[in-house]
Amino acid sequence: MSDGRALAREYLEQQRLLGGDPVVMPEAAPDGRTGGPPDREGATPSARPPVRPSDASLPPPGISCDPPSGDLFTADPVSQAGSLQALASLIATCTQCRLCEGRTHTVPGEGPDDARLVVVGEGPGRVEDETGRPFVGRAGELLDKILAAIELPRQRVFICNVVKCRPPENRQPQYDEIASCLPYLHRQLDLLKPKVILAMGGTAAQTLLDTKQSLASLRNQVHRFRGTPVIVTYHPAALLRNPNWKRPTWDDVRIARRLLD
Ligand code: URA
Repeated sequence: MSDGRALAREYLEQQRLLGGDPVVMPEAAPDGRTGGPPDREGATPSARPPVRPSDASLPPPGISCDPPSGDLFTADPVSQAGSLQALASLIATCTQCRLCEGRTHTVPGEGPDDARLVVVGEGPGRVEDETGRPFVGRAGELLDKILAAIELPRQRVFICNVVKCRPPENRQPQYDEIASCLPYLHRQLDLLKPKVILAMGGTAAQTLLDTKQSLASLRNQVHRFRGTPVIVTYHPAALLRNPNWKRPTWDDVRIARRLLD
């Protein structure tokens, strides 16, 4: 198969994984030509240079958020935590906000400590609370597909949430709950030093970038959190409710992928 066709096939397969319509490609002739209609310059599709999704330019810069890191001499155990495991132990006994009262397990996040991509969601749901693992319910299954589409198995990504305990009835975390939990997320990002952060949903985006701007207005820009690029996209749970958002999500995750390459 010609390079262009292989790339197109791979691209369409990724689109399908993310909910796009299946596309049947015409069989190639032995010389690799598809016999498709010539373009305005008279070239058949196989003679045109392949358009790689990664050739498009990056979106413009957005917000830069630079919250201060904990100072070296502080006695604060969160700023002092020297590893993700040490941080998870602190989270496990946290009673900083009311969410501790209803939890079964804390959900600190999981993934390798050298992960290049960090995915940040909103907060654990029922299955996450039961298991202590992030994104393992239906939204998590979709997240796995999204990551597979950019050739990143879940095992290579650090996945976490803004709040580490489940809000009752899956309501949105409240402002003071987020504020209590935020030092954990900030320290996780300090320790991980990822190449790219993918903020999924309004809560993750607004919290990381310290803004009230809507998710729609934050998409399609390369923001920065302490210098690290932040890409904003829809939350997988929102995609389950509104499959029309799968395509824009696909556009967003491809930007994240390009920043990783
Ligand atoms: N939704 C989230 O934001 N996080 C999870 O871990 C699961 C669902």
